[in-house]
Amino acid sequence: MTFDPKIELHLHLEGAAAPEFIRRLADEKGMRLSGVFDARGAYAYDDFAGFLQVYEAATAVLRTPEDYARLTISVLEASREQGVIYTEMFLSPDFCGGRDVSAWREYLAAMQEAAASVDGIEMRGIVTCIRHFGPDKARQTARCAAETAGGFITGFGMGGNEAMGHAADFAWAFDCAREAGLGLTSHAGEFGGPASVRETLDALRVSRIGHGVRAAEDPALLKRLADEDVTLEVCPGSNVALGVYPRIEAHPIERIMAAGVPITVSTDDPPFFHTTMRDEYDGLERAFGWGEDHFRVINQTAVRAAFCDDATRAALLAKLEP
Ligand code: ADE
Ligand code: ZN
Repeated sequence: MTFDPKIELHLHLEGAAAPEFIRRLADEKGMRLSGVFDARGAYAYDDFAGFLQVYEAATAVLRTPEDYARLTISVLEASREQGVIYTEMFLSPDFCGGRDVSAWREYLAAMQEAAASVDGIEMRGIVTCIRHFGPDKARQTARCAAETAGGFITGFGMGGNEAMGHAADFAWAFDCAREAGLGLTSHAGEFGGPASVRETLDALRVSRIGHGVRAAEDPALLKRLADEDVTLEVCPGSNVALGVYPRIEAHPIERIMAAGVPITVSTDDPPFFHTTMRDEYDGLERAFGWGEDHFRVINQTAVRAAFCDDATRAALLAKLEP
């Protein structure tokens, strides 16, 4: 079964680029990409470090606001085709003008205009810093976020390699974004264990965690997440593709949900992980017998945790009524 409509909270714009999209753009620009695709034309990587490298190599093809506008349209059309009516996307000033605020404004205007041109799906942007680029760049990214906060840009987040540094190194960036009124989320508890989730909660005071699934190894931490109403953006297909769990049946999503932690389901970087929103829902049905009731609850949870205004939230909740 699949459940419609769907809400997606964790999707990286560059990570949602289909290999064909990147190949076409590279051809148009006369760029040669090596080490990015396998013999069948899919993204090629062996592990998380390799994934991040290929992600950045493919992203290097995206150079202008126009490229980002085309990508936004392509990704939104693909999401809409999956039954998604509201999506929050991670947008990266690191790749869009190199964290220069006026360049970022140009890229952002192109993406926002592109999003407005696609009917039937609503988008908000989460400006995202990249942990392995370090705290200085994160601060510049936060300034880009603060300067453009409101309306379309409603959140600030952090992705990248969780093993780099400590969450506290990024506290200034998150404080800057919080003062600008942005919702906060950070990747943690994907490759880092429960301690990484704890550090993130303590230092960054986020209302959502990207992944967070390794919290399942620590019952006290699950209780804290439930008590503090912190929502996890769970991406089961991503976790299996990157080897966090060997297969969906071994994924702790059921135990996390049973502990009372608010959870939502997203795809992260769908073409990299050979997944779609429908595939995610099908996998959860197959592995855990989830049906309409479960899927309604996770989508209602997503709306509650969404970084959007109250009118949008109420309209989305109404669409989720049986
Ligand atoms: N950036 C894109 N996908 C990511 C993931 N799964 N973890 C960390 N950073 C990412
Ligand atoms: Zn992610």
